[in-house]
Amino acid sequence: MSTFPLGRWRVRRSGYGAMQLDGPFASGGPADPAAAAGVLRAAVAAGVDHIDTAQYYGAVNSLIREALYPYPDNLVIVSKVAVRGDAAGPESGESRQLRAGIMDNLRSLRVGQLAAVNLRLPGDGRVDARFDDQLAALVAARDEGLIAGVGLSNVSHRQLRHATAGTDIVCVQNLFHLADRGASPVLQECLSRGIAFVPFCPLGWPRGEANPVLRNRVVIQTAARLGASPAQVALQWLLQHAPNVLLIPGTASMAHLRDNLAAENVTLDDEALRDLDGIGITQPGP
Ligand SMILES: NC(=O)c1ccc[n+]([C@@H]2O[C@H](COP(=O)([O-])OP(=O)(O)OC[C@H]3O[C@@H](n4cnc5c(N)ncnc54)[C@H](OP(=O)(O)O)[C@@H]3O)[C@@H](O)[C@H]2O)c1
Repeated sequence: MSTFPLGRWRVRRSGYGAMQLDGPFASGGPADPAAAAGVLRAAVAAGVDHIDTAQYYGAVNSLIREALYPYPDNLVIVSKVAVRGDAAGPESGESRQLRAGIMDNLRSLRVGQLAAVNLRLPGDGRVDARFDDQLAALVAARDEGLIAGVGLSNVSHRQLRHATAGTDIVCVQNLFHLADRGASPVLQECLSRGIAFVPFCPLGWPRGEANPVLRNRVVIQTAARLGASPAQVALQWLLQHAPNVLLIPGTASMAHLRDNLAAENVTLDDEALRDLDGIGITQPGP
């Protein structure tokens, strides 16, 4: 089983993203709270020691607490906070909003400190006073002992370089999957600095029929040839892509949880790697 450091912890590279437990896109509430608790307990029983969550994922933090509290000593729960609404600037209370978001997570998860909290950015990529102020709010929370590590999510390469020049960053969570490698410079920057890179939507975005990963012909054919599932091929490709990748596939299904954890045991041969690597660089036809 392969592991990588996430701040002062060393976690298994196959973790779990809890967002799906509140229904698709964390909206609407869990269809079956007992089944959701069962998925969380099964994940931890299978050795998952890294769970991604957020206070704004509806009932998810409550589900985690009810299913897993008191938490195993080695369980690393990572959450995220974001500025909501139109408020902008240091005078607007954004720092207070972020600190309040951290406090809400601590309360709902019933912990005194979180292993890491990601500052979830809007995606404009700007390095400006607003970014500095938001980052400073998380650094202050770390200084206060509310969080052990500061993470960044939806961060641009420029923002990451700026942030790491001023403080320690323990993890980065950006969109990245077989068919969208736009975050490659960010991933490489993380790798060179020993920062965990946690791809969100590792099974592709958008979902459903248009899913560019799970519905991709190359992924499906490769999976069939290797006796694996398309999801396992997509996840193993990420694991092989870089040693600092930590997986957090999201599922509300026990069968998919097992499928995703078993991706660790899938071997991608040279032919598979060549074919899969080609997906991201295929240019649209005329
Ligand atoms: N930082 C951010 O802005 C951000 C944004 C999005 C997500 N996240 C985090 O990242 C985690 C992962 O992202 P995600 O959940 O959005 O996307 P994902 O893990 O790429 O995909 C989840 C979707 O794939 C399905 N699925 C899971 N395992 C499967 C399998 N083995 N075979 C077929 N389908 C499978 C799930 O449905 P079933 O429930 O039916 O399995 C669900 O519809 C989230 O849980 C959340 O914690 C963070």
